[in-house]
Amino acid sequence: MGFFITFEGIEGCGKSTQVKLLSEALNLEGFPCIATREPGGTYIGSKIREILLNPDHKGIAPQTELLLYAADRAQHIIELIKPALNDGKVVICDRFTDATVAYQGFGRRLDSSLINRLNEIASQGLLPDLTILLDCNVKIGIQRAMERNSKNKDIRDDRFEQEAMEFHDMVRNGYLAIAKEEPERVKVVDATKDIQSMHGEIWGIVNAFLRNNRT
Ligand code: TMP
Repeated sequence: MGFFITFEGIEGCGKSTQVKLLSEALNLEGFPCIATREPGGTYIGSKIREILLNPDHKGIAPQTELLLYAADRAQHIIELIKPALNDGKVVICDRFTDATVAYQGFGRRLDSSLINRLNEIASQGLLPDLTILLDCNVKIGIQRAMERNSKNKDIRDDRFEQEAMEFHDMVRNGYLAIAKEEPERVKVVDATKDIQSMHGEIWGIVNAFLRNNRT
């Protein structure tokens, strides 16, 4: 079995950049590695992602949203994540089950036992070995996400980026609560640092983890 590493955080926390830097560093160090994301890590998932993030889809009910994330995850686990782990690869995933707890649980206030049950069904009980939580103030994150989108005229703020600040605050609090509950698995990294400092810190965490757990 390989290793399963997930990245989490609010909008604009810099996950995508850090996922890319980590996967390049791992491949260079001789750890075969793939980087993927939720929602949208598979072809079917990319279709589900379009439905979920389309800013015109304001009518999606929270329950529908929850089930669509679960559907995306089920396909992702079966088609990509489990086979890669069985091949001995390091799988880095940009968001996973913690995102459902933070966004649909803390953000949308859906029942936590329902979320946990669905997460378990969709992920076939697979848990991340290590989770990097990039944490920053909501104002900083949202501003970064807006600036990124405004540089590309083809990108509109997605359905989540258009949510109120209070929603993002609840999501951030959710993530911090998960990190407090599971400090062994979830490592919090300050996402206000510059890209290279963040990468250095993440590389230190991942390296130590892989050394301690390599058989
Ligand atoms: P991304 O912008 O990081 O690609 O993520 C897409 C959006 O989906 C982001 O706003 C967070 C949201 N999301 C959930 O609400 N629940 C989930 O389970 C996942 C995986 C993502």
